[in-house]
Amino acid sequence: MDVSVVILAAGQGKRMGSDLPKVLQPLAGRPLLAHVADTVGALDPTRICVVYGHGGERVKAAFSDAELVWVLQAEQLGTGHAVMQALPHLGADDVVLILCGDVPLVRAATIEPLITAAETDKLAILTTNLADSYGYGRIVRDIDSHVRAIVEEKDATDEQKLIKEINTGLMACRAQFLTAWLPRIKSDNTQGEYYLTDIVTCAIDDGVSVVPVHADNPAEVLGINDKQQLAAAERNHQRSVTDALMQQGVTMIDPNRVDVRGKLTCGRDVVLDINTIFSGDVVLGDDVQIGANSIISNASIGAGTRILPNCIIDQTTVGKSCEIGPFARTRPGVELDDQAKLGNFVEIKKSRIGKGSKVNHLTYIGDTTIGERVNVGAGTITCNYDGVNKHPTVIGDGAFIGSGVELVAPVNIGAGATIGAGATVSKDAPAGELTVERARQKVIRGWQRPSKDKSG
Ligand code: UD1
Ligand code: CA
Repeated sequence: MDVSVVILAAGQGKRMGSDLPKVLQPLAGRPLLAHVADTVGALDPTRICVVYGHGGERVKAAFSDAELVWVLQAEQLGTGHAVMQALPHLGADDVVLILCGDVPLVRAATIEPLITAAETDKLAILTTNLADSYGYGRIVRDIDSHVRAIVEEKDATDEQKLIKEINTGLMACRAQFLTAWLPRIKSDNTQGEYYLTDIVTCAIDDGVSVVPVHADNPAEVLGINDKQQLAAAERNHQRSVTDALMQQGVTMIDPNRVDVRGKLTCGRDVVLDINTIFSGDVVLGDDVQIGANSIISNASIGAGTRILPNCIIDQTTVGKSCEIGPFARTRPGVELDDQAKLGNFVEIKKSRIGKGSKVNHLTYIGDTTIGERVNVGAGTITCNYDGVNKHPTVIGDGAFIGSGVELVAPVNIGAGATIGAGATVSKDAPAGELTVERARQKVIRGWQRPSKDKSG
């Protein structure tokens, strides 16, 4: 049986107080809509339609490579009207799963029972119970506890407002039911909108059973309409990610101060200190320790490596038993072989640092290949940019670069070469030899410091 998904994402989200369309607001570093699209992708539906409207091109552009069917809702006349726009894209026998772009944390396992119920020609609605149900559509049941209607906050009587069971906005039924019901929906309510929720009454009128599917974990199905709800959802999400990592054995000094904005994969006995942020795909090997205030993005860190506090590691591959920081920054395209060391105030870009090599203090290395067991002295700079083009530097195994050296690229430093401190090296330095580039030191005897001018 074909399953089609319709994600409602056309609303402006006025309550966000933002120019960014609501479904592009970031949660864990990614647009709300991306979370929903990923979750349904795992269900392997026949098609995923996204109803978009407000901020249209911006929303589409954010998902340029996803295989989504974009359905324009030019005017936002309500959730029922939104689903109606998708009907021409659906097969008559499809089971249609309707999701909301602003309910991003729902898990596939929570949605699946909706599909199962819809397959047997029922209307399935996902509900939950909230201690504070303010703002949500309430599930109105009759004395036999059958669902009779969904009533929106703004249309509810005082008595209905006391109901704790709410509509999560997620539903499923056959496409042919939607085709029959949606044209019957009217906009004679407080908001003057075509409410999708009114299909409940249509189903009852047509003798179709309405099945409430209960979501046990309300945190998963909370709608995000404003910045406070966005922040609350961020915390919920972070908490579930850190809980899963801790269950697997990761040590966190304080899980409330670890943020994962992407996918973090950890080996055994990994320790994460406070204020650590992981974004994109990050893999940490066994016994890796990440120091406080470090931001690690799209990186792989080998077993036994220590990242000391205040490091920024971006698009970098780090070998085993390395030590980085404190206060080091690696930029895209950096590879560190095993046992390499980067110290404080060191910036590395698009470079390879060989096994056991050390770049310990106040240094910039760019577009460089460093061999094994190299020592780069404090304050060394690779001058890789001539204002127009970038040029490479190559430093052979076992070379020793003295402090304060400028390596003017393109330049090669041979294996085992020694470069005296303070040199500006613009020609290749031969292997095994000492290269010095330095004005001779002089002493001016009897020189007097100027004295303070009293007339001024
Ligand atoms: C909706 C439900 C409410 C439920 C709540 C759960 C209706 C009438 N109400 O209310 O019962 O408790 O979600 O979170 O369905 N959208 C469109 N086009 C439109 C209007 C909305 O695509 O014309 C999209 C929005 O972008 C959003 C979703 O539909 O993703 C829900 O719309 P929203 O305005 O947030 O509805 P709620 O008031 O939250
Ligand atoms: Ca909403």
